[in-house]
Amino acid sequence: MFAELDVTSPEFIRHPYPGYARVRRSSPLCRIQPNQFLGVSRYHDVVRVLHDSKRFSNSAYTTSRPAQRQGLDTMPPMLLEMDPPRHGKVRALLVHAFSPRIVAEFEPRLRQLTDELMATLHGAQEFELLSTLAVPLPILVIAELLGIGSERRDDFRRWSDDFADALSIGATVETEQLQRSTQEFYHYFGERMEERRREPRGDLLSLLVHAEVDGERLSARELLSAVTSLLVGGNETTTSLVANALVTLTDHPEQLAEVQENLALIPALIEEVLRFEPPAHCLFRQTTRDVEVAEMVIPGDTIVLPLLASANRDASHFPDPERFDIHRDTRGHLAFGLNIHFCLGAALARMEARVMLEALLSRTKNLKRAEREVAWSSSFLIRSPRRLVLRAQIG
Ligand code: HEM
Repeated sequence: MFAELDVTSPEFIRHPYPGYARVRRSSPLCRIQPNQFLGVSRYHDVVRVLHDSKRFSNSAYTTSRPAQRQGLDTMPPMLLEMDPPRHGKVRALLVHAFSPRIVAEFEPRLRQLTDELMATLHGAQEFELLSTLAVPLPILVIAELLGIGSERRDDFRRWSDDFADALSIGATVETEQLQRSTQEFYHYFGERMEERRREPRGDLLSLLVHAEVDGERLSARELLSAVTSLLVGGNETTTSLVANALVTLTDHPEQLAEVQENLALIPALIEEVLRFEPPAHCLFRQTTRDVEVAEMVIPGDTIVLPLLASANRDASHFPDPERFDIHRDTRGHLAFGLNIHFCLGAALARMEARVMLEALLSRTKNLKRAEREVAWSSSFLIRSPRRLVLRAQIG
């Protein structure tokens, strides 16, 4: 009855967009293989689902985790997994720290961190983008914002990778390793929070420790959950945005040349990459009762995946959607979601991507990919190259 979309097939991993176009044409809902979840592929249906948080709950992130993980105390629940009213209260604590104004104050330090990483590339003719810049920078940024000492940055990265992996379809992290990371994470942050409780330092952790919801401080677990949200939400996604921008630009050399001529086009470029090759391909929701989508009834307790990457290429909202065009009107793209769960880190992610792209595009000439084929990761949740070797003259 539904069109099927096998998100693990090599063709899909290489180039998912023809698959999305096929399911969009054939019916509003599709069956995602191999896990049988229901995909929502058309723009207006995705928007409707995301606006209806009463009938489409974010508990899906918890329930869709592999069964053997569910009973284990491996991960604190995150903001992303919460529903109202708790969600709104915890989100309110974090919103201020990620407002565009506060984020903008961090730009000089971000430039410094970027320059330090770029300095390691000086004189190179070939470099791998992810390991040199796109992976370390977002992790350094979150670590700095949280006030984590440089001696634990490698651990911080491992915890972040393990948590992100545990959430993905086809997770590979061993349960024991995940538990170990969680324990280390609890222990480390537990101690840091104690320190901040005794002596606030003006960093994000101090703010969280002293914040109150309905006159009550957050419990240690809730604080850990807030920190996990930032770890998991902010790292892989920002890496992917920058890497996807470079894949797309090297596929469109005339637009690459235009942006290198005029760096003021970078924000428009970022928005079009977010539409055309978004980091998060799907979100998770769970129906709380029987609900109709495009005249089809979905029973309660069904896991539904709003397919952001498909919606972003729906011609009913974006004319000529398969064309990458940095001059198009990108308003309404869904790369950061919508409504109450709209990405908390959107302003930060946009700034990080802009600063990284400014540094790269202003200091390189004759930028090209070393390999024609892109080594895409097999994750359906986050689309990103696993590695991306670039050739350039770097000044
Ligand atoms: C939520 C995408 C960067 C923190 C979301 C959602 C999307 C998203 C689509 C909505 C999830 C849903 O509705 O189920 C992205 C992309 C990013 C990015 C594409 C980079 C390009 C960041 C950064 C941070 C962050 C840098 C933090 C430092 C969060 C948090 C949530 C969230 C905490 C949950 C918000 C809530 O449930 O209220 N993100 N994100 N994200 N994002 Fe991001």
